[in-house]
Amino acid sequence: MTKILKTPKIALGTWAWGDNGQTGNGYFGSTMTQTDLQEVVDNAIDNGLTLWDTAAVYGMGHSEAVLGKLLATHSRSEYQLSTKFTPQIASTSTTPVADMLEDSLDRLGTDYIDLYWIHNPADVAKWTPQLIPLLQAGKIKHVGVSNHNIDEIKQANEILNEAGFRVEAVQNHYSLLYRSSEQAGILEYCRENGIQFFAYMVLEQGALTGKYNPENPLPAGSDRAAIYNPILPELATLTAELGKIGNSQGATAAEVATAWAIAKGTTPIIGITKPEYIDSEMRALKITLSDKQIETLEQLADAAQVDTRGGWEHPM
Ligand SMILES: NC(=O)c1ccc[n+]([C@@H]2O[C@H](COP(=O)([O-])OP(=O)(O)OC[C@H]3O[C@@H](n4cnc5c(N)ncnc54)[C@H](OP(=O)(O)O)[C@@H]3O)[C@@H](O)[C@H]2O)c1
Repeated sequence: MTKILKTPKIALGTWAWGDNGQTGNGYFGSTMTQTDLQEVVDNAIDNGLTLWDTAAVYGMGHSEAVLGKLLATHSRSEYQLSTKFTPQIASTSTTPVADMLEDSLDRLGTDYIDLYWIHNPADVAKWTPQLIPLLQAGKIKHVGVSNHNIDEIKQANEILNEAGFRVEAVQNHYSLLYRSSEQAGILEYCRENGIQFFAYMVLEQGALTGKYNPENPLPAGSDRAAIYNPILPELATLTAELGKIGNSQGATAAEVATAWAIAKGTTPIIGITKPEYIDSEMRALKITLSDKQIETLEQLADAAQVDTRGGWEHPM
């Protein structure tokens, strides 16, 4: 049996790194240079933020390729890799999961993945069993399921249990604005069953950082701008409160939103695009939120009455 999954309190997401070539301007519209990203990687590892989340589908391999190149200056024992099998781009071969994994290993420049995910629950009975030979071969050390509802998580777990393995992690959209995994009992199920819950889009792709508002919207022409710019006015009261709580602890709204996810017992995966965000994540780790502050933030989030479910997500 594999060792227990052990990770830093914050994981770093690299979806944006696969964003249309070297400089972004696609889904996220962020400008990133290789130099900036090298600084991100080096600072993160120096600070103990060593878990990198990517997926074969992010930029159709580009995120993994960029990440692999930047990590090449570090020894493999210094960091952990989290990447995903995405059913929608599976090959028609007899071993599509193994094939996609091999391509990821190549791009990431490694011979194993610490945490491998089924990206979404297209067909649990079909895809989950294909993880078993990869676990047995040691090519993947731990497995998780992403965007699965509670019945699908249980089904995947039963399939893995039969071979002596288990679902060790769940990765779902979870933010102040989108708490469906909590409402559906997934957080509780994970807590009770020793499954680590990874929260993605904790910052709602920038909309909860307090940096963006109707006067300073998300980058024009990007996909995230089309989704979030129309709801920025509704988010103003919530981001102001995040900022106010942050001010009292020398922190920003983004850091408070991250601290909220940690306080809820999850491991946030924060999409990292700038070197200074590493210091920011380190500050987030030091924030303490009272029950009253958490309640106030959740009430303001509910009052915003926005639905930020991603186009690829099913209701939980
Ligand atoms: N399993 C799935 O289906 C799934 C789906 C979505 C995401 N994910 C994973 O989760 C990760 C996170 O999601 P995400 O990147 O979409 O969204 P996110 O983490 O909610 O937001 C990331 C954006 O917030 C801004 N930001 C990040 N850190 C900040 C800080 N400390 N202070 C101020 N602003 C900050 C950056 O925008 P600017 O560049 O504009 O500053 C960044 O692009 C992804 O990279 C991916 O690894 C998984």
